[in-house]
Amino acid sequence: MKIVKVKDYQEMSQKASSVLLDLIAKKADPVLGLATGSTPIGMYQSLIKAYEQETVSFKHVKTFNLDEYVGLGRQHPNSYHYFMNEKLFKHIDIGSGQTFIPDGTANDLVVECQNYEQQIREAGQIDIQVLGLGLNGHIGFNEPGTSFSSRTHVIDLMESTRLANARFFDSVDEVPTQAITMGIDTITESKLILLLVSGEKKATALARLINGEVSEEFPASILNRHPNVIIIADEAACRCRE
Ligand code: F6R
Repeated sequence: MKIVKVKDYQEMSQKASSVLLDLIAKKADPVLGLATGSTPIGMYQSLIKAYEQETVSFKHVKTFNLDEYVGLGRQHPNSYHYFMNEKLFKHIDIGSGQTFIPDGTANDLVVECQNYEQQIREAGQIDIQVLGLGLNGHIGFNEPGTSFSSRTHVIDLMESTRLANARFFDSVDEVPTQAITMGIDTITESKLILLLVSGEKKATALARLINGEVSEEFPASILNRHPNVIIIADEAACRCRE
């Protein structure tokens, strides 16, 4: 596990976007795994800037998002479809057929999960999977206790996760109780995992990931067993203010 300590959110975002841009420059058909939430927004802004400066094209890129809320359609302002469109896709030259996000409104959610796995398989391995870190150690929406061998599945969101995400909604009652998420095994099949961690609030979780034991009770701990992980963390998250 390589840990890159940076000064702040902005530097984390720039470094993360340059890892993705390097891959896009080198590979003819790159496959990216993407995340939502507050953490990757700056990285997406940095990618948009690179596109506007004509240093990158996304015409040959495929993307797979980690997760989506159950019950929120693609036009719902809190759906991850909407988030990705607003924060990245509508600003760059990526076609709708190149971006994949589970459909949280599918009639049969189990079949939707199987289809999503199939779509990832057909694209080949994910080259770089971007992750944020949940306060309780979740990656994707894999909450504590999720099996390390899980594939894309429907998960019941913990109250603490719903509370943490309530800031995007009018009230916590509006936060869905379930989500579709790539499983831990699906995530760790990616060639490279790029975990972004910013802010004091994440310091305890990051310390547990680095120093704690590998356990399904702390899903992110699985990253200790992956051969190719880069963590980009800012000073506040590292509790290191040198
Ligand atoms: C988002 C996701 C989540 C977030 C995590 C951190 O697609 O899967 O695991 O990465 O909850 O969220 P933020 O970045 O908002 O702190």
